[in-house]
Amino acid sequence: AGLNTLAKAAGKLYFGSATDNPELSDSAYVKILSDAKEFGQITPGNSMKWDATEPTRGTFTFTNGDVVANLAKANGQLLRGHNCVWHNQLPSWVSNGQFTAADLTSVIQNHCSTVVSHYKGQILRSYSWDVVNEPFNDDGTWRSDVFYNTLNSSYVSIALKAARAADPNAKLYINDYNIENSGAKATAMLNLVKQLIADGVPIDGVGFQSHFIVGSVPTSFQTVLEQFAALGLEVAITELDIRMTLPETDTLLAQQAKDYESVVKACMNVEKCVGITIWDYTDKYSWVPSTFSGQGAALPWDSDLAIKPAYNGIVAAL
Ligand code: XIL
Repeated sequence: AGLNTLAKAAGKLYFGSATDNPELSDSAYVKILSDAKEFGQITPGNSMKWDATEPTRGTFTFTNGDVVANLAKANGQLLRGHNCVWHNQLPSWVSNGQFTAADLTSVIQNHCSTVVSHYKGQILRSYSWDVVNEPFNDDGTWRSDVFYNTLNSSYVSIALKAARAADPNAKLYINDYNIENSGAKATAMLNLVKQLIADGVPIDGVGFQSHFIVGSVPTSFQTVLEQFAALGLEVAITELDIRMTLPETDTLLAQQAKDYESVVKACMNVEKCVGITIWDYTDKYSWVPSTFSGQGAALPWDSDLAIKPAYNGIVAAL
């Protein structure tokens, strides 16, 4: 029936995939990506990031982001905007900028406001924005970047308020990794969103990136999702992939299928978990091999665009 069809039948909003502009010249790839039975949502893997959208101060380029937004529109898919404020893929005018707090506040406000308002109404149904990406270190302390070092944690609310004003209909998320198991980092995120809610700052959801390893997917994921849902927030799996040390073997592929099933099940079991996004759908275009040396084969379609056992693991959970 297709992953999105099954996810929706089970009460979720979407099953989706990330994509990236260079891949969109591959027509066999685009055909599957555009099949709304498989994917009801897409996320641009790179083209809405700060370095892509505001490479120099005050000069915005939306060409590549628009290609992805228009593809979503043509396919009747939801869009997750990714992202407004992140320590990576920042142009050097931001990362090396010597800003006063007031100056950086207006830089963040102008960036979030311009990018979020650009995609307001240009797409069929804008769904959500990762307004803040990866604010924490793995030990739960704040990441030391230009935003935190200049503005302390206040940059989070500055960005969220600017995004809300720019598109009141978009769901606003904070997104991070290694918060899928109970521990210091998940606790730090819980405390942050509790504080934001107490302060009346607009926050709608928390995204769990979910870049996992075959054989060691989190065991307390459902519990963590429920803890966030209990605060009244929605939650989503936003960048799922489950990598293995290459070469792939039948044993690893079978374990990977079980791992996909258990991760997807964690979301299915939590009503406020609105959807699941894989970080591209095919091993042909996964970010994993170039980032984690010797690892790969992390996605449910192989590099020839054929489904793998992992696909059936997802189906079993939906
Ligand atoms: C990755 C992209 O997939 C790569 O193409 C790029 O080179 C680096 O960024 N967490 C995130 C994503 O929030 O934006 C990252 O995407 C993967 C990790």
